[in-house]
Amino acid sequence: MSMAPQELEKSASKYAAAAIKADSQGAIGMAITDYQNASETLMKLIRLYPTSTLNKIYMQGYKKYQERIKALRETRGADIEPVVDPNASPDEQRKSLARTQPHKDEGDLEDLLMKEKPDVKWSEVIGLDDAKGALRESIVYPSKRPDLFPLGWPRGMLLYGPPGTGKTMLAAATANELDGYFINVDAASMMSKWLGEAEKNVSKLFKMARKYNEREGKPVILFIDEVDSLLGDRNSEVGGEIRAKNQFLSELDGVNGKGKDTMMYVIGATNKPWSLDEPFLRRFQKRIYVSLPNQEARQKLFKQYTEPLKKSSRFNLITIARQFDGYSASDIKDVCQGAQLLVVNELFKSLNYHEPINGEIAQDPREITMADFKDIKAKRKPSVSIENIRAYHKWSEAFGAL
Ligand SMILES: Nc1ncnc2c1ncn2[C@@H]1O[C@H](COP(=O)(O)OP(=O)(O)OP(=O)(O)O)[C@@H](O)[C@H]1O
Ligand SMILES: [Mg+2]
Repeated sequence: MSMAPQELEKSASKYAAAAIKADSQGAIGMAITDYQNASETLMKLIRLYPTSTLNKIYMQGYKKYQERIKALRETRGADIEPVVDPNASPDEQRKSLARTQPHKDEGDLEDLLMKEKPDVKWSEVIGLDDAKGALRESIVYPSKRPDLFPLGWPRGMLLYGPPGTGKTMLAAATANELDGYFINVDAASMMSKWLGEAEKNVSKLFKMARKYNEREGKPVILFIDEVDSLLGDRNSEVGGEIRAKNQFLSELDGVNGKGKDTMMYVIGATNKPWSLDEPFLRRFQKRIYVSLPNQEARQKLFKQYTEPLKKSSRFNLITIARQFDGYSASDIKDVCQGAQLLVVNELFKSLNYHEPINGEIAQDPREITMADFKDIKAKRKPSVSIENIRAYHKWSEAFGAL
């Protein structure tokens, strides 16, 4: 995740704090302006990141501030008492402030988690044989035959690598192979102040995982995406982040030290392994690099993603895979989608599409050619830079553990 949503979130919470302060001092005009700014910033977050798990929480904040604005506007004319009576006891002041504070007890972590078993099969995850092997050995085999592992097995796994290479997919495929629970949580959301205290969220999360595990004795995979955000943003002095991280470390110790047959696993994923510190790394016994696809994997990816498309007879997988060296699996998917869009657009344009389209369109788009892919390549750079890849390799040499 880029910094942008966190920045926006910070600014929403600054406005909210200012609004609450103004509100408590009876500065109604200022309170309205700040509530409005906070609302608008939250709305912007929701629009810019429509798939964020936090949107429900943002929406709650938005509604609350809008209601408060409405109430303030209605009473402004009537010249009423400030919301917090400056002469009231500190306790009463606090209580009345709490009414407007964002999400005390409202954001519920459990609502944000995905708990269904994902429908991703090993065979759909292309390439990444090392990573697949490591996950099978440490999760799938022990849960099928725990008796074969008298010395125990690792419970903490870290998947690291560039974006769009299949980290989430791998975790999902592992969970799918087990008859168990898959709890998918985004660490960045857990750290969000809109969800309450991060430290408590961490402990709630592990408690829930244990509950699922104990209730039916089924394996539980706790998948924590963007696990690096637990370490917080080093530029900001926020004490809660340190507490959340320590909580996480001690929860991980709990998982590792459990009865040796307990089927609980923690899979962390990150694009920024270098921002993890040593205590953190030590608790993830397996550290698995999820790399960009090699030539063979790119061929398979192109094969899979162009399967449903109509291609020219000159279309050649080997050549095309070579041309897209450096592109991630998810880039390749986008490229193939782009190729289809190109020919479809051409078709609609040829039909004079700005006229109302009446009835069915009988024509089909033309075949996709090698030249189309060349055009797309010229316009679409790989999403990971070479320097970045070097950084992953360097980090792997120092800290990788298969
Ligand atoms: N190894 C792969 N095989 C097949 N498809 C892949 C693979 N990796 C990525 N994809 C495609 O790209 C999409 C994004 O992949 P995924 O979410 O697993 O990446 P990620 O490594 O978790 O990325 P991020 O670090 O951004 O979270 C997948 O839904 C899938 O369509
Ligand atoms: Mg992912």
